[in-house]
Amino acid sequence: MGLRISPSILSADFGNLVAECKRVADGADWLHVDVMDNHFVPNLTIGPVVVESIIREVSTPVDCHLMINDADHWAPGYAEQGAQSVTFHVEAATNPRQVARDIRNHGARAGMAIKPGTKLEHYEDLFPELDMILIMTVEPGFGGQSFMANQLGKIKRARELVKNLGLDIWIQVDGGVALSTIEQCADAGADTFVAGSAVYNTADPIEAIANLRAKAQGATDASWWCGN
Ligand code: DX5
Ligand code: ZN
Repeated sequence: MGLRISPSILSADFGNLVAECKRVADGADWLHVDVMDNHFVPNLTIGPVVVESIIREVSTPVDCHLMINDADHWAPGYAEQGAQSVTFHVEAATNPRQVARDIRNHGARAGMAIKPGTKLEHYEDLFPELDMILIMTVEPGFGGQSFMANQLGKIKRARELVKNLGLDIWIQVDGGVALSTIEQCADAGADTFVAGSAVYNTADPIEAIANLRAKAQGATDASWWCGN
């Protein structure tokens, strides 16, 4: 079972952004780029211009996490720019089905993110339109927050639904993912792991990714959903 580690550049030095992206390239499967608009979340990061530069300069595929209002209008543009995966928040979309279709039509993987307070079951009928479901394990907006263990049941439920429907949808977890929490996430059913501070706030980010990967792989191999 292949798993993916996607370092979040939110914890990187934004003054040296391209170099910081390249610093994790040898270990990362994806690069998680957090776009925030100061409306959907109380924080502001980067927009299409900077994301476009990252896509141009960095060979690691970009996993764009849009924490912005009016996903219907903005999300397809990130796919058009060349982000290989674009994830919108379902709470910020008027017509999530159409947003997912628009993202796919521009050649990217379509992801749907849900905040800790949002119920997954309401959106089950959208699953066939999706390539990834992002379960937030912190309130979106900032790196370095504590992992919300009360979201593990939602990860498990997502895995059950995906399994039952026979769909190939990645389940991503984002927020407080670290050596101390990644095994619980993998055991619950996540296969795609975002880690910001646990990668960038270390002396050796490549080694940090390898250690996270090893823990996640061990837990996956022994898990209810993937183990033997
Ligand atoms: C938070 C962002 C995350 C953030 C995670 O809203 O979506 O991607 O960078 O940071 P850590 O891994 O430090 O919790
Ligand atoms: Zn994120």
